[in-house]
Amino acid sequence: MNLTGKVALVTGSGRGIGKAIAQKLAEAGASIIINDVADSAEATAQEITTAGKPSLFIKANVCSSAEVNTMIEKIVATYGKLDILVNNAGISRDQITLRMTDEEWDAVINVNLKSVFICTRAVLKYMMRQRYGRIVNISSIVGIIGNPGQVNYSAAKAGIIGITRSVAKEMGSRHITVNAVCPGFIETEMTQKLSEKVKEEYSQRIPLGFLGSPKDVADAVAFLASDEARYITGQYLCVDGGLIAGW
Ligand SMILES: NC(=O)c1ccc[n+]([C@@H]2O[C@H](COP(=O)([O-])OP(=O)(O)OC[C@H]3O[C@@H](n4cnc5c(N)ncnc54)[C@H](O)[C@@H]3O)[C@@H](O)[C@H]2O)c1
Repeated sequence: MNLTGKVALVTGSGRGIGKAIAQKLAEAGASIIINDVADSAEATAQEITTAGKPSLFIKANVCSSAEVNTMIEKIVATYGKLDILVNNAGISRDQITLRMTDEEWDAVINVNLKSVFICTRAVLKYMMRQRYGRIVNISSIVGIIGNPGQVNYSAAKAGIIGITRSVAKEMGSRHITVNAVCPGFIETEMTQKLSEKVKEEYSQRIPLGFLGSPKDVADAVAFLASDEARYITGQYLCVDGGLIAGW
């Protein structure tokens, strides 16, 4: 996959899956914009630049239309265009439904779902003008199968699939593809909170027998962001070691 000359924004890419996606797209030749709310994400941009690929860090909260619009304007002013958007930023606030607070619900819906709408709306103007664009949304298998204790998170991730299909249908004639990747159980700081016992139980349910790595997700994203995936839109691709195969 060759992304030379492409400009790619990865939200929430200071660490974890987003960082691996940014590194993979940079390796494939794209200029990368690292976005995050955490200042520490600047180090990720520096790492990529040191590895010989141009990279820019823009701090912005993806829940804020104003901050996102300013970020996109800055990218277009700097690079002249924006070809690839990966909506990756996400959080979890797990709680059983009976005890979940409005704050826990709103936080997860805003960061994981509303942000995808805000960022997508902001880039479409430029992608339509270019008559080219690749949008890859990071959903989750729990958006398909649900998960106890994650009513907020699974609703957001299911919503992302709805956004993916709707925008794909709106934008097909402009050569903008919109797809989702649904990771299964991936080893990152988000999943480090879980006990070894829970991780072991998950591994036993995964047909491939092991937890995924951020790079496994990044490889799928790079494919969907490439010209090789030009005839794929409105789809979701599970990167889950077969966990929900046949669901
Ligand atoms: N780890 C998994 O097993 C797994 C499985 C399925 C889906 N996912 C999804 O993959 C994505 C990345 O997950 P991860 O495990 O790397 O998480 P992570 O917590 O390691 O990284 C998430 C990043 O998003 C950033 N972020 C949070 N709120 C933000 C905001 N408002 N604006 C901008 N940036 C913000 C964080 O600072 C952090 O750098 C998320 O959407 C997550 O839901 C993860």
